[in-house]
Amino acid sequence: MIDRIHHIAVVVKSIDVALEFYRDVMGLTVTDDRVMDDQGVRGVLLAMGENEIELIEPVREDTGVARYLANKGETLHHICFRTHDIDAELARLNAQGVEMIDTTSRNGLAGRIAFIHPKSMHGVLVEIAQPPVGAHESSAKGFDHLAVLVGDYAAARETWKRTLGLEVVREIEVPARQQGIAQVPAGQCMVELIYGTAPESPIAQRIEQNGEGMSPMVAIEVKDIDAEIARYRAAGYTMPDAATGPLPVSVTSTISADQTHGLGIQLIQFGRAS
Ligand code: CO
Repeated sequence: MIDRIHHIAVVVKSIDVALEFYRDVMGLTVTDDRVMDDQGVRGVLLAMGENEIELIEPVREDTGVARYLANKGETLHHICFRTHDIDAELARLNAQGVEMIDTTSRNGLAGRIAFIHPKSMHGVLVEIAQPPVGAHESSAKGFDHLAVLVGDYAAARETWKRTLGLEVVREIEVPARQQGIAQVPAGQCMVELIYGTAPESPIAQRIEQNGEGMSPMVAIEVKDIDAEIARYRAAGYTMPDAATGPLPVSVTSTISADQTHGLGIQLIQFGRAS
């Protein structure tokens, strides 16, 4: 069983440079920092409530992560879900015939891990991890939501349920943007399946150009968005004023991915209309 998001991973050119944002400006705590020679990467985990942000930097040129960075630049790489029994999950996935990158678990930064092939998840690279005993643990809310762009919503909803055991609990139509948002809870974080409701909608156009998959962003709930915006601006980051977001009764403002080494940081305050 999958019970929450463990981490999202961002591929960066230099972890040391990226930490100047994630650790020094966002104020996150590094919980692990290791070079995994067999995979040719350095990985760092930063805690955010029950979730973590993983930074990965290739240390050799002959790796999949190095090619990903060369092709796509610094951006979101995968979403990792936590389980307490990875072997049971893998037995279930293999029995279902889900196309996997790893059919057996191996050691990774987050514990015993395995990757599902993105073909099986509508373009999303999914990692499943069973953390080691004594790993960082928190019951505080971490991410508010992540966004996944899907071309065929009905098919994607079925895949998320069958493959990960995670179900849509709420569908929100946003007519002004010709899009639908389907919320899939994983722990205290919502994964939003976002789809166009008309062929000419901006989301449908984006998918036609770039394909389905993760949107390189994470949303974080804040209590006082104006104070947060002022704090990031004082640190030299550009952010628009808070404005009404797509979710009901909420305002948002985003630090763009090009300022953060690949991950748009959307701040969201609920209970405020504008
Ligand atoms: Co990972």
